[in-house]
Amino acid sequence: MAFELRFRKDISQLQSDAAHNTELKRTLGPVNLINLGIGAIIGAGLFSLTGIAAAEHAGPAVSLSFVIAAIGCAFAGLCYAEFAAMIPVAGSAYTYAYATMGELFAWIIGWDLVLEYAVGASTVAVSWSAYLAKFLAYFKIQLPTAFSMSYWQTPPGSTEHGLVNLPAMIIVFAVSLLLIRGIQESARANAFIVGLKVAVVIIFIGLGFAYINADNYAEFIPANTGAFGHFGWSGVLKAAGMVFFAFIGFDAVSTAAQEAKNPQKDMPIGILGSLIICTILYVLFSFVMTGVANYKEFAGVAAPVAVAIEKMGVSWLGPAINLAIIAGYSSVILVMLLGQSRVFYTMSKDGLLPKLFSDTHPKYKTPWKSNLLFALVVSLFAGFAPIALVGEMTSVGTLFAFVVVCAAVLILRYKEPNRERPFKTPLVPLIPILGILSCGGLLVSLCVSDYLHAMRLVVWLAIGLVFYHMYGKKHSLVRKAQA
Ligand code: ALA
Repeated sequence: MAFELRFRKDISQLQSDAAHNTELKRTLGPVNLINLGIGAIIGAGLFSLTGIAAAEHAGPAVSLSFVIAAIGCAFAGLCYAEFAAMIPVAGSAYTYAYATMGELFAWIIGWDLVLEYAVGASTVAVSWSAYLAKFLAYFKIQLPTAFSMSYWQTPPGSTEHGLVNLPAMIIVFAVSLLLIRGIQESARANAFIVGLKVAVVIIFIGLGFAYINADNYAEFIPANTGAFGHFGWSGVLKAAGMVFFAFIGFDAVSTAAQEAKNPQKDMPIGILGSLIICTILYVLFSFVMTGVANYKEFAGVAAPVAVAIEKMGVSWLGPAINLAIIAGYSSVILVMLLGQSRVFYTMSKDGLLPKLFSDTHPKYKTPWKSNLLFALVVSLFAGFAPIALVGEMTSVGTLFAFVVVCAAVLILRYKEPNRERPFKTPLVPLIPILGILSCGGLLVSLCVSDYLHAMRLVVWLAIGLVFYHMYGKKHSLVRKAQA
């Protein structure tokens, strides 16, 4: 029984448990859910990676790369929507795997999601710290390198090493305290930030259109240089793999399913709504950015949006965008940490992790101990670890989960064709198969371009399996019930 298929969760039981769970508060409506999605989606991927992807791989056709990445995400999003509406529990992909592929596979996915949520939050916290430094520089304030960068970071043009990235640690703690305070308070803060960052993105697009120089599109897909991924169509595909990071987060909406008022109807709206809105904004934003400035000007630039703004000559836009980026990254960290604590909450409820992860605060109704523990772990990681090396693991871990969710839709349609599905993925089996192929293809391409990604994934999953054998297997409630 390689994947312990015997030990599956029963979907009717899951649905009934979710309906009777009163530990987490059901307060989120469709707008909150769309906002959670946008809060998690728009971040470092758009504001940092667009420039690198254009300068090194796709040229102005980076806007096409966004379209390609969005199509892969749409397949996965449709599959997530089917599950999130049918099994509205906080465990997301972990629970979907438990119900379809069995306990061991579920554990693997739950463990893998740490790469998406906890490592993702650390990565974005480090970027947050860099943008904070830039923002303070507008006011001639300079943070000491020793306390604003880890040992692995050096300021541009310098060989000085940092010691600890304190701002990154502080933002992780601040966001965690907000999460402990309550889901509704978190959703409210998130909505405010989402308003700000969407407004700034729209202002950039609106103002930028007037400054587009058509000459910058003369070579819309620059000719391939002879190497795979260096411009031409292969470059457009390579850039799509990079900007996939920008879409990560729509799936985190599904981890709030147990806190949604009407998950059957609102989960698909939250997941697909946020994905559609962000896709439109991304394509327009990248089109304008590469129209205002030439893609070559983004080479080696850490803050490419600033290059485009300089061309526009609108002086107030620089600090305003910077501020929105700082706020915007905070909401990405917020939703990532929310997702992380909710997945571990469910795993703990199932007995696979210690009870600490599912203890909820008597007043705030949030898994506060788990939030605190992750605040500590994620902040230590952000403060001291070589984030640049592991940042791409967020995309690797997420793509792995997407492939599994698409496969799970196929499996359940085959095993339980008559089960009621409040939202049905259209064109099954085509859409899940295309989801597996496109997300699997991106996953393989990331691992081929750096074989260490595959090794890190294997090592991480192996560590997880040790934990599973030492703890989870012995305490699993499903096993106990079936024994
Ligand atoms: N999609 C998120 C970002 O781009 C992870 O920051």
